[in-house]
Amino acid sequence: MLRSKVAGIGIYLPEKVVTNHDLERVMDTSDEWIQERTGIRERRYAKKHEESTSTMGAIAARRAMDDAGLEPADIDFVIFATLSPDYFFPGCGVLLQRALKLGDVGALDVRNQCSGFIYGLSVADQFIRSGMYKNILLVGAEFHSAGLDFTTRGRNVTVIFGDGAGALVLQPAGDQDSMILSTHLHSNGAQAEALAYINPGCHGGVHLGTERFGYPNQEFGGAFLTQKMIENEDYYPNMDGQAVFKSAVVKFPEVILEALDANGFQVSDLDMLIPHQANLRISQFIQKKLGLRDDQVYNNIMRYGNTTAASIPIALYEAVQEGKVKKSNLVCLASFGSGFTWGSALIKW
Ligand code: UT7
Repeated sequence: MLRSKVAGIGIYLPEKVVTNHDLERVMDTSDEWIQERTGIRERRYAKKHEESTSTMGAIAARRAMDDAGLEPADIDFVIFATLSPDYFFPGCGVLLQRALKLGDVGALDVRNQCSGFIYGLSVADQFIRSGMYKNILLVGAEFHSAGLDFTTRGRNVTVIFGDGAGALVLQPAGDQDSMILSTHLHSNGAQAEALAYINPGCHGGVHLGTERFGYPNQEFGGAFLTQKMIENEDYYPNMDGQAVFKSAVVKFPEVILEALDANGFQVSDLDMLIPHQANLRISQFIQKKLGLRDDQVYNNIMRYGNTTAASIPIALYEAVQEGKVKKSNLVCLASFGSGFTWGSALIKW
């Protein structure tokens, strides 16, 4: 049976380092609070007017292609996951296609936030298993700092997020030692607004009551971005952190065990768990619940914050570079986030 494998990996992290102390200067927060609740010490911010989600994704993708020894003409499909796209439409996939001078290949945009990379990986894996494509470029990138509220009002969200990009090249597995064993995807929209970027949007106020958004009483138009939204600065992401935390610590372990069970493995067989870097406390909770040793879990949220769709490839890249993920190791990638969406991928590296 045809399987897929990771043939190349690349990342891009913007140069600018923003510490917790830097954030203390613009909002009422503290290094102590941020480290204690999230484990984050610093994050990277992209350069406004010079960089974007797609430009960062393109650098990571170019590096992944170099790692795989591929040229632009070799790529036959693009998958781009982000929650902070350059444009509302078209998606970042076509911008990446243009920037890298790829052929007229398909470009799919994935909107599954923190689980975007796992969802994209699952799609790539299925396309390769079916024989449809041979060199798929999978990219996760975020420019969070462009759309965060840097006043005290936004502190519960803003201190968590950072910018960056990661990319993989997926190919058919020739060597039976290295392959993607399985992917498992889930969602439950019951708490869709618990972690959401609602405005501007085409919801017409239906989910949360039109009054809050001040939709003009006119026959056509005006519902995407209203004057009232602008006056109220009602265009930032919002998060019920505790609701996300409570579900995350249940769903992460469930979906990791689902991946192991489906392939006949135990927790003790796992060489490395790479969880989406949402919060160090969440990772530590998962580790404890599953009884994993420190050397079986990789975390780098301390240095980059939560880079959403980019966090898994960035962590995977660093784990490989540091020699913590080696050929034939059993590696589990897992995510949970906005939607809620969650998923896992089990890989024989
Ligand atoms: O990829 C998925 C992304 N999201 C997540 O994974 C989020 C999961 N949730 C979390 O990580 C945590 O809920 C947070 C780190 C967001 C918040 O931690 P918490 O322990 O749940 O704090 P809280 O929201 O209950 O807030 C506790 C207090 C509040 O003050 P009062 O009401 O007790 O006076 C907040 O106003 O902390 C305050 N607070 C802050 N204080 C200083 C909230 N944000 C900050 C801040 N600095 N940045």
